[in-house]
Amino acid sequence: MKYDIRLLPHDRITVSPSILAADFGAMNSDIAKVTVAGADLLHLDVMDGHFVPNLTMGPPFLKSTRRASTLLFDTHLMISHPLYYAPIFAQNGADHITFHVEAEDDPRAVIQAIRDAGCTVGMSVKPRTPAAALAPYLDELDLILVMSVEPGFGGQSFMHDQMAKVAEFRAMIHASGRPIHLEIDGGIDRETVKIAAAAGANMMVAGTSVFRAPDGMAAAVAGLHAASSLLKA
Ligand code: DX5
Ligand code: ZN
Repeated sequence: MKYDIRLLPHDRITVSPSILAADFGAMNSDIAKVTVAGADLLHLDVMDGHFVPNLTMGPPFLKSTRRASTLLFDTHLMISHPLYYAPIFAQNGADHITFHVEAEDDPRAVIQAIRDAGCTVGMSVKPRTPAAALAPYLDELDLILVMSVEPGFGGQSFMHDQMAKVAEFRAMIHASGRPIHLEIDGGIDRETVKIAAAAGANMMVAGTSVFRAPDGMAAAVAGLHAASSLLKA
């Protein structure tokens, strides 16, 4: 059984904490804490040392972590070959899989492979890639992920100049009439979430600001949820 991201609401902010900022030596405990803190889903950043200059987590890590969590696994593949690896991540616990349009495989083939593996599908764009790059695939997507940092590392500063693209995607989603989540990833905290929500993002990835919050994870997640009132309809 897989969790279905299409069942998550569109009319309020949902929070997907990125475990890249958790303690890898105490992962199950950190995931339990962020679940109690009110996370709506869990963001897993997969990096291959090729698409981005960093290495993070692979299929065995998902498999073990899956047993310890009741949250939807929002899997973000920052890898050059999603066509080969997406089904493997699906078998090891991914519920939703987002891949990059800048990866090396044919996007339509990757979308089909993810669907065949029983997962929902997202596509992402790096900061220098325009919204138009995803226009041909809109009819087939459950989620669009806008990067508000260069992918590769947690803890970077939010790129304000990506907000025009978020607004553009919001308009494209509206015009499509399809219920596509608009997720944003990178530098999201209790301040930048307001800007992202006002621009039209409804799903917030947050690593550092949640797992390293000085006043605790519950306050951090609640602070992100508070931007629901600013969500652009
Ligand atoms: C960056 C990753 C992000 C990252 C976010 O390549 O895709 O998910 O973990 O981390 P923060 O919230 O610390 O910017
Ligand atoms: Zn991510």
